[in-house]
Amino acid sequence: MNVVITGGTSGIGKALTEKFLKQGAKVIILARSVENSCGIKCDLSNEDEIAKAFKEIEKSYGKIDILINNAGYGISGATELITPAEARKIFDVNFFGTLFCIQNALPLMQKGGKIINISSACAFFALPFRTLYCASKSAVSMLSNSIRMELNCAGIQVCAICPGDIKTNFTKNRVKHFDTNIRYGNRIKNATENIDRNEEKRMPLTYASDKIFQIINKPKLKPQYIIGKKYKFLYFLYKIFPLNWFLKSTNKSKGGKY
Ligand SMILES: NC(=O)c1ccc[n+]([C@@H]2O[C@H](COP(=O)([O-])OP(=O)(O)OC[C@H]3O[C@@H](n4cnc5c(N)ncnc54)[C@H](OP(=O)(O)O)[C@@H]3O)[C@@H](O)[C@H]2O)c1
Repeated sequence: MNVVITGGTSGIGKALTEKFLKQGAKVIILARSVENSCGIKCDLSNEDEIAKAFKEIEKSYGKIDILINNAGYGISGATELITPAEARKIFDVNFFGTLFCIQNALPLMQKGGKIINISSACAFFALPFRTLYCASKSAVSMLSNSIRMELNCAGIQVCAICPGDIKTNFTKNRVKHFDTNIRYGNRIKNATENIDRNEEKRMPLTYASDKIFQIINKPKLKPQYIIGKKYKFLYFLYKIFPLNWFLKSTNKSKGGKY
C-alpha cells in the first residue's frame, strides 16, 4: 500500500507516518524539510514543485492508495492588518496545496483509494484574530465535501478530519502578528496570549493521531470527523444555538467583548 502524507516531518503527519510504516505501508512524505529516503522535498505553496513531486511518485511507486493532505500552518493577527502576501501564502499552502495535491494524485489513484484532508475545528468555529486560518480550513472542508460527491462513482473515498487543539509544533510555527491600532488596542496581544496560555489543555498528540489513524483505516469513511470530545460537544451547541449566541460566547471565552 502506497501512502502519500504531506507535512509528514512534524506533529500529526509524523505520527501518522510512523503508524503507517509500522503497518507495513510504503510512505512518501512531501514537505520542505524531509531528511529520510521516503521523503520528497516540496514546498506546497509552489504548484510546480507539487507537480514535480507527483511525477517522481509516479516514476518510483506507480500508484497511490491513500493521499493524506496534512501540511498546514496557522496565522494570528488583526484581519485588517494582515498583508495581501501573507493572506495569499496561507491559502497557497493550506488550500491550494491541498487542491493541487489532489489534482496531481488522482491520475495515480484507482477504485478503493482514499483522500484524507486534515482540516480543523476552525473550519466551522470562527475565532477572532485568526480569520485567515479559519477561512483556509473552511475552504479545505468545502473542497473535501464537494469533491467527495464527484469521486463517489469512481470508488474513491474523500473525508475531512477536523481536529481541535493538539499538542504539536503548530503553536510555535504559527505566524504571529501583534501589530495593532486604536481600534484593537491590546486585544490582539491578549487573544494570542490566551491561545498560548491554553497550550497545556491541548489534546495529546498520541490520542489524536491514534484516532485519526483508526478513521483512515475504516473501510467506509464518513464525510467529516471531529477529533476531541470537547469539540464534538461544541459542534452540537453550534448546530442548535443561534450563530450570534455562539460567536458571542466564543469571543467572551477569548477575553473579548461582543
Ligand atoms: N495542532 C493542532 O492544534 C491542529 C488542530 C487542527 C488542525 N491542525 C492541522 O493539522 C495539520 C498538521 O499540523 P501539526 O499540528 O502537525 O503542525 P506542525 O507540527 O507544525 O506540522 C506542520 C507540517 O506541515 C508542513 N508544512 C508547513 N508548511 C509547508 C509548506 N509550505 N510546504 C510543505 N510542507 C509544509 C511542515 O513540514 P516542513 O516544515 O518540513 O515543510 C510540517 O511537517 C495542519 O494542517 C494543521 O492546520 C492542527
